[in-house]
Amino acid sequence: MQNLDWPNLGFTYRDVNAHIKSVWSKGRWSTPEVVPGEPYLKIHIAATALHYGQTAFEGLKAFRGKDGLIRIFRPDANCARMVSSAERTEMAVVPEELFIQACKMAVEANLDFLPPYGNGASMYLRPLLIGTGPRMGVQPADEYTFIVIAVPVGAYYKGGLQMVDAMIVDGYDRAAPMGTGNVKVGGNYAAGLKPYHIAKDAGFPVNLYLDAKEHRYIDEFGTSNFVGIQDDTYITPSSPTILPSVTNKALIQLATDLGMKTIRRPVEASEIKDFEGIAACGTAVVLNPINRIVTASGTELYKSNGQVHPRFEQLYRALQAIQYGEAPDKHGWCVAVKG
Ligand code: PLP
Ligand code: COI
Repeated sequence: MQNLDWPNLGFTYRDVNAHIKSVWSKGRWSTPEVVPGEPYLKIHIAATALHYGQTAFEGLKAFRGKDGLIRIFRPDANCARMVSSAERTEMAVVPEELFIQACKMAVEANLDFLPPYGNGASMYLRPLLIGTGPRMGVQPADEYTFIVIAVPVGAYYKGGLQMVDAMIVDGYDRAAPMGTGNVKVGGNYAAGLKPYHIAKDAGFPVNLYLDAKEHRYIDEFGTSNFVGIQDDTYITPSSPTILPSVTNKALIQLATDLGMKTIRRPVEASEIKDFEGIAACGTAVVLNPINRIVTASGTELYKSNGQVHPRFEQLYRALQAIQYGEAPDKHGWCVAVKG
């Protein structure tokens, strides 16, 4: 076991023992291999990932449970999303068996970096799919590389259920209608870096996007989906330009289990002032309550009453209890890893 400051890991990159790699060429994937040591990849300077943005990634977590078992949360769902990202950007599709095997191998190769149970930390898995074949004309590569990186992480923002402020940065959209907002490709995040920094420099750790067509509806946060609560209903936007969040899907199920109503529908920016609670949800942020939402030009769209909505506390605990093996996994979400 590494001697890390487990309760204060934050969400930062660090080198571990090894990553996992498989290469697609001539129509087949190579057997995934453990690549120990230096975390570098030698790629062709004309690789399509570098020029034409053939890159997609995923984010999921492995947890050391109360019972000592290791669980990966919903890798099948992340694989399905990577398949849709690959199809949208004309990349080779990673089969589910390879995806899950590589995720398990990444955990097993880095067991001494897997945070121990009881301090809220976990191991973040970052599957990455990129075009590594050379092309000069704009066309898909003839070679793809699939990698799984493992990094021990803690809270993405301040930690636990502490509230954060969010900003809508006027003048920047995340995803065009009929563009790539509903898949997890690198270019979406490149486009978000500038508004992210504008918000951060103004003291807002989170940025929120409106729909790009009318700027009338809530889409999602920069790295997570939007959830609101009103009249004991779990409300999350339906929009063709948001990333379908695995965490959101799980929380909708858990909200139903708790007896709440749930609805996916267009959410007008003008209606969120009446919500009893708003949170961001995603693998990295888990479920992060939002205190205030303002626009960069100074309009306040939402202000909480300063208290985390009790339903968010319940949902957060219900989700983590399954991930840490403290509650039965009755929906069959977790995949066990040896170790
Ligand atoms: N939306 C965006 C833009 C994201 O980057 C993420 C993170 O993956 C999410 C939503 C949340 O998705 P998930 O719950 O599958 O991690
Ligand atoms: C995740 O929650 O897994 C994400 O991908 C968000 C961010 C770190 C890009």
